[in-house]
Amino acid sequence: MTDTTTAQAAVEGAPLKRLFIKTYGCQMNVYDSERMADVLRPLGYGMVDDPEGADLVVLNTCHIREKATEKVYSELGQIKLMKNRKAEAGGQMTIAVAGCVAQAEGKEIMHRQPAVDLVVGPQAYHQLPELIARAHRHSGERLSADFAADEKFDALPAERHVTGVTAFLTVQEGCDKFCTFCVVPYTRGGEWSRPMDTIVAEAQGLADKGVREVTLLGQNVNAYEGGLANLVRRLAKIDGLDRIRYTTSHPADMDEALIEAHGELPELMPYLHLPVQSGSDKILKAMNRAHTAESYLRLVEKIRAARPDIAMSGDFIVGFPGERDGDFEATLNLIREVRYAAAFSFKYSKRPGTPASAMPGQVAEEVKEERLARLLALLDEQTIGFNNRVVGRTVPVLFERKGRHLGQIVGRSPYLNGVHCEGPEQLIGQIVPVKITGASKNSLAGVLAPVLEPA
Ligand code: 5AD
Ligand code: SF4
Repeated sequence: MTDTTTAQAAVEGAPLKRLFIKTYGCQMNVYDSERMADVLRPLGYGMVDDPEGADLVVLNTCHIREKATEKVYSELGQIKLMKNRKAEAGGQMTIAVAGCVAQAEGKEIMHRQPAVDLVVGPQAYHQLPELIARAHRHSGERLSADFAADEKFDALPAERHVTGVTAFLTVQEGCDKFCTFCVVPYTRGGEWSRPMDTIVAEAQGLADKGVREVTLLGQNVNAYEGGLANLVRRLAKIDGLDRIRYTTSHPADMDEALIEAHGELPELMPYLHLPVQSGSDKILKAMNRAHTAESYLRLVEKIRAARPDIAMSGDFIVGFPGERDGDFEATLNLIREVRYAAAFSFKYSKRPGTPASAMPGQVAEEVKEERLARLLALLDEQTIGFNNRVVGRTVPVLFERKGRHLGQIVGRSPYLNGVHCEGPEQLIGQIVPVKITGASKNSLAGVLAPVLEPA
């Protein structure tokens, strides 16, 4: 999960009713936002890229850290002004809060910001049309925060609206791990997996519409019931679906079958997001992580034995309660051993109701800041190092879109780097050999190459 904010926008002619969705937090929310748009499309709603004047504004929220939650309330303040402006002009704007803040805070949101018309939790998106109708009638319950994930997936339209050559596909939701810092087990509920056949059918539908790459999503995706490796093997057989990724994985659920699949399946991309959080066993224990620094390192070794070029990515928390300098040094040491290609680092943030929020030894903000800066410096160095090692190689790139400059196209390497290249637009949607000529922290530059280098 990353803490990016994306305004989702696709202006599709002039829709009957204007829908604006803003997505916070992880990719699971990105998937959910697309599915909400699918639910609302038959009602005449089409996406617009500006909330001003919209008929329905949905904020799909994130509760993972305090900052993410606070952003939602400040955004709601802005949206409320737009709602007032629209009302003055004789129109009507409906404001919906969805996602994990909706699940965690429920009605409280409408108390704190009365301009909010309805609140809908992550498992209840199929009820949006009914909730909107009630809001317009000014009668009935305007909160839905049920936990039944199976109902949600059964009730969502089978058809997906596809806009690109890559797509997210949620296969699992919820988490049973109860890391002591994390709200997810409370906001998304227990682990639940979608039946394999429905996932395969959805993936087939995506492939039929030109999708070449899917990213399988789950809070604990490798805890997928039925085996993530089995699912990946079935998806790999789908014609046209040439790239499969998955996120996020817990080290304790990384089984032999999945590691083997990384060694065997060319469709399974060599990138693995495997959060470790800390390199100190004392802290890992207090976090209830169910692994040690050593067991994590051995696991990475095994994965690299199966797929030597795999790009490792991780999540890190600095300033967890009780973290001393020595514990933080242990995290830096673990990072030096693993050599990450990508990483997401966070200052520990107290979350209501989680065990860690009541633990003694809360770390001062300045200490968190200082540790985060040192962590980022090391991780940035590793990312640049990884990217530099790709320079000079010829790698397959799936082109996804036009670049910002004329004649430029942009795609991704197997390692998930963005790759910029001069080339014809017709290559969008194709996987093409590119010789990498330059690297920065965030992306690679390359030139179209005649053939791939021998493996
Ligand atoms: N404070 C800081 N970071 C957190 N994460 C989860 N909960 C917290 C918290 N309370 C981070 C973890 C997780 C990622 C999605 O967010 O690193 O892997
Ligand atoms: Fe949160 Fe831990 Fe579950 Fe990840 S594994 S969602 S960090 S409780």
